Amino acid sequence: MEIKFKKASLTEVECDVLVVNLFEKVKTPGGATGAVDKALDNLISAYVIKKEGFKGKLNETYVLPTHGKIPADKVLLVGLGKPEDFNLNKIREISSKVIRKTRGLKAKTVCTILHGAGTAGLEASQCAQMIAEGSLLGIYDFDKYKSKKEDDDKKKTLKTLEIVEFDEDKQEGVRQGIEKGVIIANGTNKARDLVYEPACAATPAKLAEEALAIEGLETRVIEKDEAQKMGMNTYLAVSYGSSQPPKFIHMKYTPSGKAGKKIAVVGKGITFDSGGLDLKPPAAMRMMKEDMSGSAATIGIMKAIAELKPDVEVHGIIAACENMPGASAYKPGDVLTAMNGKTIEVDNTDAEGRLTLADALYYAVKLDVDEIVDMATLTGACVVALGQYAAGIMGNDQEFIDALIDAAGAGGERFWQLPLYDDFKDDIKSDIADIKNTGGKYAGASTAGIFLQEFVDKKRWAHIDIAGTAYIDKEIKELPKGATGSGVRAILNYILK
Ligand code: BES
Ligand code: MN
Ligand code: ZN
Repeated sequence: MEIKFKKASLTEVECDVLVVNLFEKVKTPGGATGAVDKALDNLISAYVIKKEGFKGKLNETYVLPTHGKIPADKVLLVGLGKPEDFNLNKIREISSKVIRKTRGLKAKTVCTILHGAGTAGLEASQCAQMIAEGSLLGIYDFDKYKSKKEDDDKKKTLKTLEIVEFDEDKQEGVRQGIEKGVIIANGTNKARDLVYEPACAATPAKLAEEALAIEGLETRVIEKDEAQKMGMNTYLAVSYGSSQPPKFIHMKYTPSGKAGKKIAVVGKGITFDSGGLDLKPPAAMRMMKEDMSGSAATIGIMKAIAELKPDVEVHGIIAACENMPGASAYKPGDVLTAMNGKTIEVDNTDAEGRLTLADALYYAVKLDVDEIVDMATLTGACVVALGQYAAGIMGNDQEFIDALIDAAGAGGERFWQLPLYDDFKDDIKSDIADIKNTGGKYAGASTAGIFLQEFVDKKRWAHIDIAGTAYIDKEIKELPKGATGSGVRAILNYILK
């Protein structure tokens, strides 16, 4: 689907479906929706609202034929909800719902009003960005492995979405908003693609290939032998039980001008987490192809960064490997020496993510960046605490955490802070080594976080546990069920700000 700007009035555009909107409780639509109502001989106000009881509740839709009164074939009316609750995130959400509705209508061409730029008075470029993001996130689906594409006759026919705006002053903003929204959504959808790929396809080597394929970055893949020489023993230990070679991936984006700051984005890249010798039971193992969601987000972010070209130096780091119980697998009780020299007793081979991140984070420290943020499907405990509605965030710098929480909110994502009290350090004490890789019964997300903190020196750092948000069982706002690309929009927003 292509998203374009069109300078026109809604009453004169030719398309299969024309999208207009209505706030809750409005009886006589004004503005552009009002003009469409007039052109339809008051069909919206006199029939849809008055007779059919359309309320304008958020995401409520109503489809009506135009019978040739305007060039558009059908009009899709969407509710914006209460004006006092309306904001940019609502535009993203309704755009996703609307585009999925037009798929059901077998539309080839859709034209839409610029939601939010009328009485709501939001900035045109941002409104357009939200429409682009929501539409691309909503229309996305992963049908690569279906031999008969389910909607060959539906979705594939949706060709263009045009944002219609007559006002000369808003045109340039709308164009820029579309461009930005498309890049951000495509980065998110790239992450979703990789998460959906089964573990037999999305191997560490495949992730390396994907990283190398992104233009505009310098990408280095560190192979096992070199990683060994560099002392990445905790990361490599996790890979020992698998026949898939580990790949340590370092992508770098350098701005053309002077870099405002340097940031490292680290993603957990366990392409399959069987639990290792501490094998997971079947139900817990079933979806563990998603254990590379942090790295998928990192790749999606780097792809978007290469296109958005911000004045920030951005590093994308992934210590990719598989956690399997093969003959050479690392064992409970093993003691490993991390790249930063700390010794770790392996209490449980299923707490593997933090072991790979230990070396990945320390590698990031050595790059001399200003800030490090990691994303990881790290703990079941985080899912218990926050469900699939929010990712857990923790770190060593409150300002940094607050800025990330804000950036997530602006991207339509939710980060919820969990504590990293010094007390948690007690829980990862080992009898024979510096620390162990588990933290006991309680506060599993925080004890995992306190473990990671051991490897970031004094660098400004935040950890985002996306175990609950990377793959959802049901639709949540603009995201249909399945892989979400969790973290991509949040981190991109942070970097762009
Ligand atoms: N990859 C899992 C965490 C996970 C759980 C991700 C559910 C996505 C959905 C992680 O490697 C893991 O197994 N964590 C253990 C840690 C424990 C052994 C200390 C857990 O959370 O049970
Ligand atoms: Mn695990
Ligand atoms: Zn894992």
